[in-house]
Amino acid sequence: MAFDANRADLIVGVIGTGAMGRGIVQVAAAGGMQVLMTDARPGAAEEALDFVGKMLMRAAEKGTITRDEAVAGVSRINTVGKPADMKPCHVVIEAIVENLQAKQELFAELETVVAPDCILVTNTSSLSVTSIAATMKTPRRFAGFHFFNPVPLMKLVEVIDGLQTEDWVGDALMTLGRRMTREPVRLKDAPGFLVNQVGRGFTLEGSHLVHEGIATFADVDRVMRDVGGFRMGPFELMDLTGLDVTQPASELIYNQFFQEPRYRPNLIMRSRYEAGVLGRKTKRGFYDYDADMKPLVAPEPPAPAPHTGSVWVSPADPKGHATLAALLGKLGAQFESGARPGAQSLILVTPVGEDATTCAVEQGLDPRRTVAVDTLFPMVKRRTMMGTPLTTENYRLGAHGLLAADGVPVTVCRDSPGFIAQRIVAMIVNIGCSIAQSRTAQPADIDKAVTLGLNYPNGPFKFGDVLGPDRVYKVLSGMYRIYGDPRYRPNIWLTRRARLGVSLLTPEP
Ligand code: NAI
Repeated sequence: MAFDANRADLIVGVIGTGAMGRGIVQVAAAGGMQVLMTDARPGAAEEALDFVGKMLMRAAEKGTITRDEAVAGVSRINTVGKPADMKPCHVVIEAIVENLQAKQELFAELETVVAPDCILVTNTSSLSVTSIAATMKTPRRFAGFHFFNPVPLMKLVEVIDGLQTEDWVGDALMTLGRRMTREPVRLKDAPGFLVNQVGRGFTLEGSHLVHEGIATFADVDRVMRDVGGFRMGPFELMDLTGLDVTQPASELIYNQFFQEPRYRPNLIMRSRYEAGVLGRKTKRGFYDYDADMKPLVAPEPPAPAPHTGSVWVSPADPKGHATLAALLGKLGAQFESGARPGAQSLILVTPVGEDATTCAVEQGLDPRRTVAVDTLFPMVKRRTMMGTPLTTENYRLGAHGLLAADGVPVTVCRDSPGFIAQRIVAMIVNIGCSIAQSRTAQPADIDKAVTLGLNYPNGPFKFGDVLGPDRVYKVLSGMYRIYGDPRYRPNIWLTRRARLGVSLLTPEP
């Protein structure tokens, strides 16, 4: 099909002019396209036109576009009364209520109105593109075009090929996305597409950690900010988004993947969702908020006194040993160099994917004096440590004080294979790899989607390559071995590249 997505007189239709539709109208008009828009609620399209006009004028005041461009952009937008008025459109974008039947009914009507080569797309965030197309007469010209909120600020758009979508449709949408000054990425239809699928690694593993009693919400958030380099922790993020959005999306993705354990939700989120404790929108979520909506977080207690006796660092993980020994040297620790720890010394282990208990038992160390330290991530802004259930208070406090001796805060969590950051980041990498393995999208596109759509410091593949594919594999296989839960089994894409010692980006022709 010869569809010219670059034609100067391209007309884009937008149906549903709520939060998303109006943003899409704005970027389409700013990108030089003619726009027709409509909404089922009388007056809504006119309100949206007024809103978009103000937004374009504001952009002109800020200097991001010229005044002439803003005026020209507004002049390209027209409201129409009903979907049947979309007849002249070359592309129609649906951004109505998230309801399968409503969307299918709308496309059934549109199919009878528009030209045979008009592209029809949905901005659905959670429904299957293939399912929406299932009742269409012409599913071959139908695709997903998934924008992010707020559209003018979020550059990413996911271009989703449904099972029956023909290639020219996705090709045209990639061009159209660029004309709208977006950064499009192409993928095959899959539950959660790219961004919402990878995002499960962050929020769900965070809540599994709390559900298991390993750490508090605030501790997980602090570690993911200071150690993982994320802008917000998973609980701050869920409070911002609202559990009315995150919980149903999580359950949908889990069930659409036939209860794949990697996406399994848990009661931490579900019970709050049921209780209506949704986040900032209900003024209470994982955090309580003050009158100015600042989260009420108890300050971290001051660090205890450092351990003054001798310290023995396990050589079992040579990299971790070297990292921790270098740090302890700077902190003035009294090292013991023997092959086995002395009778009174503090024993430090540096597991990757194992808990302190496993290290103590398998290395034949005294569990009452054993403390594990996370050395996989930079230890500059915060450090994470955990004892075994038997570690005595004086050794735990002494290790805490020692690790905090230069003023860097320390998070003490309960015993956990993979501490906090190792677990969450490994799940993000594992999900990214499973998306690549299923050929849903290319690794570079998955990274691009995740950094643009979720604002993570790295996409799954870059994260994995920076930490080392073999290390991430070790985190996951350690967790899998200790928990016996298939949730943590390493994906085969990751396993192969870790074993071959190559980048996770390595394609397989
Ligand atoms: P919204 O509630 O702000 O706007 C929906 C608009 O559609 C309303 O103005 C409503 O009057 C209109 N509408 C409802 N049924 C209609 C119909 N049958 N015909 C014509 N107009 C109809 O919703 P929002 O947030 O803009 O979401 C729209 C779509 O975009 C949904 O499919 C949603 O899942 C998806 N989406 C939402 C994102 C978000 O963060 N809000 C992000 C990405 C996608």
